[in-house]
Amino acid sequence: MSKTTDYLVKPGGKLTGRVRVPGDKSISHRAVMLGSLAQGTTRITGLLEGEDVLGTLGAFRAMGVAMDGPNHGALAIHGAGLRGLTTPTKPLDMGNSGTAMRLMAGILAGQQFDSELIGDESLNKRPMERVAEPLRRMGAVITTAAGGRPPLKIKGGQTLRGIEYPMPVASAQVKSCLLLAGLYAEGDTIVSEPAPTRDHTERMLRGFGYPVLTRDARISLRGGGKLVACEIDVPADISSAAFFLVGASIAPGSDLMLEHVGINPTRTGVLRILTSMGANLELMNKREVGGEPVADIRVRAARLRGIRIPEEQVPLAIDEFPALFIAAACAEGETVLTGAQELRVKESDRIAVMAQGLRRLGIYAAETPDGIVIQGGRFRGGAVDSHGDHRAAMAFALAAPRAAGTVTVSDCKNVSTSFPGFVELAARAGLSINIE
Ligand code: S3P
Repeated sequence: MSKTTDYLVKPGGKLTGRVRVPGDKSISHRAVMLGSLAQGTTRITGLLEGEDVLGTLGAFRAMGVAMDGPNHGALAIHGAGLRGLTTPTKPLDMGNSGTAMRLMAGILAGQQFDSELIGDESLNKRPMERVAEPLRRMGAVITTAAGGRPPLKIKGGQTLRGIEYPMPVASAQVKSCLLLAGLYAEGDTIVSEPAPTRDHTERMLRGFGYPVLTRDARISLRGGGKLVACEIDVPADISSAAFFLVGASIAPGSDLMLEHVGINPTRTGVLRILTSMGANLELMNKREVGGEPVADIRVRAARLRGIRIPEEQVPLAIDEFPALFIAAACAEGETVLTGAQELRVKESDRIAVMAQGLRRLGIYAAETPDGIVIQGGRFRGGAVDSHGDHRAAMAFALAAPRAAGTVTVSDCKNVSTSFPGFVELAARAGLSINIE
């Protein structure tokens, strides 16, 4: 039984200097997956060495893929080719990661061998029929446990056929799962999305030389091709940068530069939302690395105002709401979020967990079935529970600069799933966190 980790965050202070947050989690997972399935050696730099990605990496090692690293974000993967994976000897443990479990399900559905995907307590509560059901339509044989939850048992040796699938939820994980299964399918796999979602899978498949067609909301590929190894430079994760974008916006006197941040337009809802709230963000030195746009972002403290968050921005900022709720709590007036029921099935029920924590810190926060209403106010010190959710933990830590007393955040161990070195990096920017 591992011990829990609590953060004690001192009130006050400001965020200054230059920091580079760790590599993008979504891109890192995909780089490990596609590198493993490619022919030749894929060289990755800037890889996120968080537990989630290390889990994916371990799964491919368990299926016979040779890798050198990771070492300070550098990883060389000697790809096995699409048909070169070998039978794992035990269930593949995806830990806390929904992305890993759902994308791996697509890959494993196309293999000749049987496999099982397991996860931790949080992942075991998350819905998996959203991938299992369309995979079955493609011909996969796959079972979920009670309530459509993990573990997933996947029977190998099936012939997959491409399908046309209109996704009921705007989910990049479902889209990516089906495209990955589509690599193994006969004919075309066509996924249409009800609203734009992150497109890293499509971009990276093209980077590996695999044709993917995107027309309006329809994304398609034809099975039977091959992936050719390439080089990938993973940008810093905008979802990790988000905590500092908010922290520096709300802490008076802050002036912080976030370096080499991925600004893929399917991920930048947080920038648009913060800007409409009055944040002072400046994108500098815009460039492209390996098919993904990147910039340095300067953020200075600003007076924020509450807004009604446009629903079309929700999938484009889906992981940043814990941080955005902290911004809303410091804004003048009311912030209203709707159309965000997906937040209830993330690493925790993020609407419930954040509302509860905000109230503990003296902020008015009312849950609605698909969102939240937050009245800007003043944080008092106090104890909040992250419920094991890495992003809730980091969001509450960044509330401290505006709090009247120490903020204690419990159950922060999972921060290492997405942001190893968070406490040290936050300290460099000026936030004083003690670990208990
Ligand atoms: C992700 C997609 C999103 C996001 C998750 C990462 C991905 O999930 O919340 O953190 O890498 O594809 P959904 O597809 O469930 O919205």
